[in-house]
Amino acid sequence: MIKFKSAYHLNKYIQKQKKLGKTVGFIPTMGTLHKGHLSLIQAAKNECDIAVCSVFVNPTQFNNAVDLEKYPRNIDADAILLENMACDVLFNPSVKTIYPDGADKFNAPEVGDMLDVLEGKHRPGHFQGVMQVISLLLDIIDPTQLYMGLKDFQQFAICSKMVELQGRAVEMRGMPTVREANGLAMSSRNERVSAAAKNRAGIIYESLQLVKDNLGNYSIIELKKMAKKHINSLEGGELEYFEIVSQKTLREPEKNEGLIALCAVWLEGIRLIDNIIL
Ligand code: PAJ
Repeated sequence: MIKFKSAYHLNKYIQKQKKLGKTVGFIPTMGTLHKGHLSLIQAAKNECDIAVCSVFVNPTQFNNAVDLEKYPRNIDADAILLENMACDVLFNPSVKTIYPDGADKFNAPEVGDMLDVLEGKHRPGHFQGVMQVISLLLDIIDPTQLYMGLKDFQQFAICSKMVELQGRAVEMRGMPTVREANGLAMSSRNERVSAAAKNRAGIIYESLQLVKDNLGNYSIIELKKMAKKHINSLEGGELEYFEIVSQKTLREPEKNEGLIALCAVWLEGIRLIDNIIL
């Protein structure tokens, strides 16, 4: 595995590979890698000639300074995991490398009204920061394929729209969520939750499955009520939102198809998100 800290040298390396006709799969991450991330690396390895993983805790997407400070960082362990996966390239830039002129000069593209619902509503500015860093990383890497997890469904939808509006020649690959045995979606933030709470947190996925299993038998309002009741039985948990929306618009659906259920739950001071395609 080749490790880059310099954007310039990585860019030169990728350009050379692309001139040789190689396809380049890019997996952006914020590190503290788990099996969910590794499934994206594996997909890129299966489908592309070169897999490039970035590990960068992007300050501009944190709307909460404490969350940024406490976000886990484990670059040495990450490098070993990537090496073991035979990932080809690790890009681990500094904040100065990504934002040499400061971070306040980004004109987010008009991705429509997907920004101010769900995660966007509860984390103002978050997706502007995500678009900013993904845009800069794509400028540097210019991959043929971009691998992202559907666990962050709204992030995937917004980045897909951004890439389309920017006219980038990159294929978006949205990959399924990898879960713990009890259904809890794997997340770097799970590291900050106690083992006992993680065990209980299977309730989050159960509530999403409850909606999927009962779709068609109840109205959306009733389904949401049912799911909320189930999540509220999670000891120490606090539901922030549970929504059933159209996958396309992320808003209230006009008809009962192409739906997705999404939720955010606080557990021991940590915010967990999950979703299920219905
Ligand atoms: P991070 O949370 O590190 O996630 C990196 C990628 O891994 C994202 O595309 C995310 O959707 C995916 N992922 C996370 N958990 C997963 C799971 N359990 N199963 C499958 N995929 C999973 O998302 C970010 O970082 C950042 O916002 C980023 C896109 C890197 C921009 O800074």
